[in-house]
Amino acid sequence: MGEVILTMKGIDKSFPGVHALDHVDFEVKKGEVHALMGENGAGKSTLMKVLTGIYKKDSGTITYEGRELEFANPKEAQDAGVVIVHQELNMMGHLTVAQNIFIGREFMKGKLIDDAKMNEEAGKLFDKLNINIDPNEKMNKLTVGKQQMCEIAKAISHDAKVIVFDEPSAALTESEIDELFKIIKDLRSKGLGIVYISHRMDEIKVITDRVTVMRDGGYVGTLITKDSTKNDIINMMVGRVIYEDPKTESNVSKDAPVVLKVEHLNAGKMVRDVSFELHKGEILGFSGLMGAGRTETARALFGADPIESGDIYINGKKVDIKSPMDAVANGIGYLSEDRKRYGIVVQKTVAENTTMAALDNFMSGIFINKKKKKK
Ligand SMILES: Nc1ncnc2c1ncn2[C@@H]1O[C@H](COP(=O)(O)OP(=O)(O)OP(=O)(O)O)[C@@H](O)[C@H]1O
Ligand SMILES: [Mg+2]
Repeated sequence: MGEVILTMKGIDKSFPGVHALDHVDFEVKKGEVHALMGENGAGKSTLMKVLTGIYKKDSGTITYEGRELEFANPKEAQDAGVVIVHQELNMMGHLTVAQNIFIGREFMKGKLIDDAKMNEEAGKLFDKLNINIDPNEKMNKLTVGKQQMCEIAKAISHDAKVIVFDEPSAALTESEIDELFKIIKDLRSKGLGIVYISHRMDEIKVITDRVTVMRDGGYVGTLITKDSTKNDIINMMVGRVIYEDPKTESNVSKDAPVVLKVEHLNAGKMVRDVSFELHKGEILGFSGLMGAGRTETARALFGADPIESGDIYINGKKVDIKSPMDAVANGIGYLSEDRKRYGIVVQKTVAENTTMAALDNFMSGIFINKKKKKK
């Protein structure tokens, strides 16, 4: 870690009815990856939006490269070398990848946009980052993970000194996260200051040098990652010590009925001969390394991936699960590890998302009863 490049001190920001930031301090050094952590709504994104000129702060100071300043808008921040990869994607689906990356600073040939040149420059950028994306592809043709990689490439193309990653990994696959970490390590070695927001504790331990924790809009503290434990960080995030005596025996009585029984389940490469029993009132954990097949087992059980063989019993009765609808009909619910990708439909309303798994309850004849659904 080098010298301090960015200091935010006593930052305050209110929205109508919400004190989103309450005298928050934050600092970034050259050549460090600094995690910003906190529960949902703690104020992480807001702090970074204040930094990059999206929101105006109510009070406090920002010092960047030795000068006190406040960026009037994101463009001004970008030009000064402070860029943000947003939590929510901000790309134009109908434009190409290259057009998105160079939006607002297009290469021109006379009065016309020089698409060939932009494709070439975007191609170079991807090569440098070891990302395999066609610059001429329309943005809405890409997976969310690839779109996110484009956002990252765009941020890096700005010759930045400070890059903020706001939950970049939420939509990325394992191998994309690997690529992202390589990119981040490379940027760090070049002396950039990196802010990394994530809820995934394991990532924080792997990739970051320091951790700043926020809670309810306030600053809680800053730790050196390698000197702190997962528990230290979690305790700071939630504001109390979460400690339970390790169980020496199950709280579930031995004769509790078996509600779910799986025998010799096979599904794809990852799920081979899986058998287990789940009792009423029991919480059954599945442990294993990345790629051990835990998610795949859950997906097969939920009918999201085809089952090749094996038997599933619910309350002692053998069931046939061929689709998520079958699983739901049998009283199985599934919460995905990647809520944005597999859990919800982001374009739909809260009401639509909440009722989607039980639409039958909200029908009047062949139509959805909107009133009922909203209620
Ligand atoms: N534009 C806005 N108008 C009103 N309230 C806002 C606005 N942006 C954020 N807030 C509120 O400010 C608080 C902090 O939100 P923020 O998005 O910064 O949290 P976060 O730490 O990034 O959470 P998450 O982990 O869910 O992304 C929340 O109570 C949020 O509802
Ligand atoms: Mg956020």
